[in-house]
Amino acid sequence: MVLLQQAGLRVLGIETSCDETGVALYDTAQGLLAQALHSQVDVHAAYGGVVPELASRDHIRRLPLLIRQTIHQADVSLQALDAIAYTAGPGLAGALLVGASVAVSMAWALKIPALPVHHLEGHLLSPLLGEDPPQYPFVALLVSGGHTQFMAVEGLGQYRLLGETVDDAAGEAFDKTAQLLGLAYPGGPALAQLARQGNPRRFTLPRPLLHSGDLNLSFSGLKTAVALLVKARPADDRADIAAAFEEAVVDVLCHKALLALQQTQLKQLVVAGGVGANQHLRRELARRLRSVGARVSFPPLELCTDNGAMIAYAGAQQLLRQPATATQGAFAVYPRWPLQRS
Ligand code: KG4
Ligand code: ZN
Repeated sequence: MVLLQQAGLRVLGIETSCDETGVALYDTAQGLLAQALHSQVDVHAAYGGVVPELASRDHIRRLPLLIRQTIHQADVSLQALDAIAYTAGPGLAGALLVGASVAVSMAWALKIPALPVHHLEGHLLSPLLGEDPPQYPFVALLVSGGHTQFMAVEGLGQYRLLGETVDDAAGEAFDKTAQLLGLAYPGGPALAQLARQGNPRRFTLPRPLLHSGDLNLSFSGLKTAVALLVKARPADDRADIAAAFEEAVVDVLCHKALLALQQTQLKQLVVAGGVGANQHLRRELARRLRSVGARVSFPPLELCTDNGAMIAYAGAQQLLRQPATATQGAFAVYPRWPLQRS
């Protein structure tokens, strides 16, 4: 006998906050039905970083194709959609406007709600899309190119900021350090790959704010220390420097993660954001948390960096919690938008 699974609420998610165009369709009963992603790495590589205007233009070019591809792959009609969720911020203003205007126009034509989603809430909820999803409450460590913060997550929409970086984000530090080491954009994964061939104990780099007693972090001094080391050492030492840098970042993040769990008396850490793809961080966090009887969850690897699935999922959770009316066509984007300030 074939059991037909009932459809739940179907939400299309659109992510265009930076240099990835992401689209996905999430069904609250059946899970993720389809997703499509286009990375703009090739567009920005020559400039060594994201060029906002080029990002917006590429989102415009890719988004309609990715939406069509996602709908086709899920084998549903546009009329089967219950809502369209889009990243409303934080991010690059022009890039956000592309996703928001496409989402709101489509929702308006289909007479369904358009749901603005906070990019960091998308990241923060992305581990819930994994095989063994964590239960609330938990401590979230958001480590992306733009943010590095600890949050106490009591439930959907209940986020309390525990501490954050006072200067560079962890991903930004990876990217800038990679540049110092002569690695191509995007630097994070390239640096991690180089670090694998190096000896992390040959050079000892500073661990800023390690013993500050609070949950704030700092990475800009670390980058400066690498700059001095790169100048002083021959090119052959680059792998050892990369390994020492990765070791220092991972050590600080692990130390503060343990402190966050201790301060909140929670036993579960959830890691989200691009740097969450770092294998050394994953291994060390799992090992060090296990030793204190806590556990760590990560999103599936492909959902660590920006994607449409996390936006569709966050939108669907919003809709489950509170029914929404069809869009009237008005919208706004928020390039700077704190998730929660303590
Ligand atoms: O979350 P994300 O895709 O975009 C933002 O919202 O910022 O994160 C991108 C960041 C970049 O800084 C990138 O270098 C970093 O995540 N990243 C990594 C790795 N993969 C991506 N950093 C370290 N190791 C990795 N394997
Ligand atoms: Zn992101």
